[in-house]
Amino acid sequence: MNLQTENQVVDLLIKNVNLMTMDESVSASYGLIEHGCIALRHGNIVWLGPESTAPEFEAAEIIDGNGHYLSPGLIDCHTHLVFAGSRAKEFEQRLTGVSYQQIAEQGGGILSTVRATRAAHEEQLLVSATKRVRQLISEGVTTVEIKSGYGLDTDNEIKMLRVASQLKAQLPVSVSRTFLGAHALPPEFAGRADDYINYLITDSLPKVVELDLADSVDGFCEGIGFSREQMSRLFAAADELGLPVKLHAEQLSDLSGAELVAEFDGLSADHLEYLSEQSIKQMAHKNTVAVLLPGAFYTLSETKLPPIFALREHNVPIAIGSDYNPGSSPLCSLKLMLHMACTQFKLTPEEATKGVTLNAAKALGLTDRGVLKVGKKADLCLWEIEHPAELAYTFGVNPLVKSWQNGQLVINN
Ligand code: NIG
Ligand code: FE
Repeated sequence: MNLQTENQVVDLLIKNVNLMTMDESVSASYGLIEHGCIALRHGNIVWLGPESTAPEFEAAEIIDGNGHYLSPGLIDCHTHLVFAGSRAKEFEQRLTGVSYQQIAEQGGGILSTVRATRAAHEEQLLVSATKRVRQLISEGVTTVEIKSGYGLDTDNEIKMLRVASQLKAQLPVSVSRTFLGAHALPPEFAGRADDYINYLITDSLPKVVELDLADSVDGFCEGIGFSREQMSRLFAAADELGLPVKLHAEQLSDLSGAELVAEFDGLSADHLEYLSEQSIKQMAHKNTVAVLLPGAFYTLSETKLPPIFALREHNVPIAIGSDYNPGSSPLCSLKLMLHMACTQFKLTPEEATKGVTLNAAKALGLTDRGVLKVGKKADLCLWEIEHPAELAYTFGVNPLVKSWQNGQLVINN
């Protein structure tokens, strides 16, 4: 029977695919639907299920998925990919035993990238960042978060966020922009961290909001960054302006920054190697996402693991990001992070995959993606793999066959 439903006419029908929906209500493992079929219209998913149960569609285009696996588009929920300069010399220094903190205290580290980024023109930053985003897209990323934080004054922070906005306008990717003015103390405020926070609150943040350049506010809560009290003042200002917050927390020591994020009903606490049980309970209570960053853990030769078992036990949603930046994580590959989340942090491949789809969307406050479900955005990746765990299992190979953003074909390998 030819039912006259609204869904019948569709833009694209992908048949003969195994659907990794990541929807727990569909199935316990990857939300898997074998021998599936998915229909898209106007950039959204309008039907999905076993092909044997599919209604008659009138499709403008039909694609045979060749029995491959289809997942939600990947989401890199933590990057610092707009920057100038290189920190290769610091890499050499660290290998002779100088620590990340010591380099920062000597005026290197984040501040070295600040000097290079301040000196760069907007156009230069756009050119280098475009290459980095294209690299992420080539491995299936359809949404990327990009932080400022190498400007550290109003004009240069705005310059970085404008680059992030241009990337969004020019490339087939969604960009979530994060204001990270509280990343480090700029030299002109040396010894006056409270004054710098006041400056961010009274000057930078209102201008960033007025220009509509940020989707959230972040900071670095750490001995070499800002105190919990300072972050709390910045968060209160963000709250007043209607921006959600997130935080680099418990990366090198425990200042209970994650607890602060929970207090502010924030989106995520990121890094978390030194996270306490007490903060985990608060995160669980507020459904704060724990964003784990295996690239920084690896690059800084950190030995203290984030408390994976306790996060699991308390059902804290876990996301994974690349943290792509020139200092602690010079790694432009979310696919590699999937692998390292398993080998370094002992996440299961399914947890890691959830960490770059469903929970990464949560970490950005995006409810319209990260899962294959009717009504969600048609951001999709088609993978030539034989099992869903293969996405996390291999690295240095790219099994992506095709990707779509908003229902539009992006990669066609
Ligand atoms: O996520 N921890 C602070 N911020 C970055 C590092 C930035 C840098 O070293 O340039 C991070 O690891
Ligand atoms: Fe970071």
